[in-house]
Amino acid sequence: MSDHEKEIDEATGVETTGHEWDGIRELNNPLPRWWLYIFYASIAWAFVYWILMPAWPALPGMGTNTPGIRNHSDRDLVAASVQELRDARAETGQALINASLDEILSDQSLRQFAMAAGESAFGDNCATCHGAGGQGFPGYPTLADDVWLWGGSLDEIQHTITYGVRQDNLETRFSMMPAFGRDQILSSEEIRAVAHYVRTLSGLEEASEESHHGQEIFEFQCVSCHTEAGTGDQLQGAPDLTDRDWLYGSDLETVINTVYNARNSAMPAWGERLDEATIKALAVYVYSLSGGETNS
Ligand code: HEC
Ligand code: HEC
Repeated sequence: MSDHEKEIDEATGVETTGHEWDGIRELNNPLPRWWLYIFYASIAWAFVYWILMPAWPALPGMGTNTPGIRNHSDRDLVAASVQELRDARAETGQALINASLDEILSDQSLRQFAMAAGESAFGDNCATCHGAGGQGFPGYPTLADDVWLWGGSLDEIQHTITYGVRQDNLETRFSMMPAFGRDQILSSEEIRAVAHYVRTLSGLEEASEESHHGQEIFEFQCVSCHTEAGTGDQLQGAPDLTDRDWLYGSDLETVINTVYNARNSAMPAWGERLDEATIKALAVYVYSLSGGETNS
């Protein structure tokens, strides 16, 4: 620029830089003052910031970034708030373990905590067998109704979840329906007859000569678990055969199959895998799915 003469733009009276494109010349306007002040202030602020806050990345031989004299660390702040949350959770978890059902249901924050923790643990551990929302599948009981194999009070549900069904521990839910056909306790005709009788109990069939014969067999072989009236026994996990709720299926072939082979399905003992607070939360969640039994 110094090697050519100063040139003044006629229209504005401002000096040009000497740059020209297709007849358009660049004016050499000074930077606005306000802009310059902000620019200098930013530079000054950067120095202040470097001194106060962690700023420069690790230099060779330094090991870490410059810490700044305020010793600020986002990582420590996050760790502290995570720890705070953990402590709060552990406290609520302990309160949940100690609380009775009534206390949980009447305490808004306990109930919300239990339902949220229960729902998420259910999705992770239970939904594969019991379905999302506990709607159940053939062989896997519906938990979202008021029909219970082993009992639907909060304590009974918690016990079932903790110790499982037909597992290898002393407290597990246990019973064994005999495989009447496979173990040759009953003949195929007898099994067919008793299956007809079972179906009359819930009104799926009219009574017949065959079902009367089946009733005699039932009274001899089945009432110890399913009771005289066929209403089942929660102490043995024997289902009510008089309702329209079927674990395995109600058509004649399925009932024959059940009596011939027996099912005796199993459920894992979750006490070995989940902590106490999670199990309590699951029990509250499952209980709430069904509306829950208040007695038994
Ligand atoms: C591997 C499949 C499986 C998984 C996973 C499973 N269950 Fe079960 N559950 C079963 C079966 C099968 C039964 C019925 C056992 C029987 O015949 O008594 C059952 C029974 C139950 C019962 C008793 C129902 C009643 O009517 O008394 C409850 C409560 C229950 N499960 C809750 C849970 C919860 C909560 C979880 C998750 C932590 C879970 N289950 C995970 C298979 C499973
Ligand atoms: C030792 C106890 C016991 C005896 C005896 C017994 N059951 Fe069962 N029964 C059970 C149990 C427990 C279940 C369900 C648990 C499972 O198999 O998963 C069951 C299930 C059934 C089911 C399935 C119901 C459904 O909802 O799908 C039928 C049907 C049935 N029993 C019929 C009979 C008949 C008929 C006899 C007699 C010939 C008999 N049971 C004898 C314990 C018994």
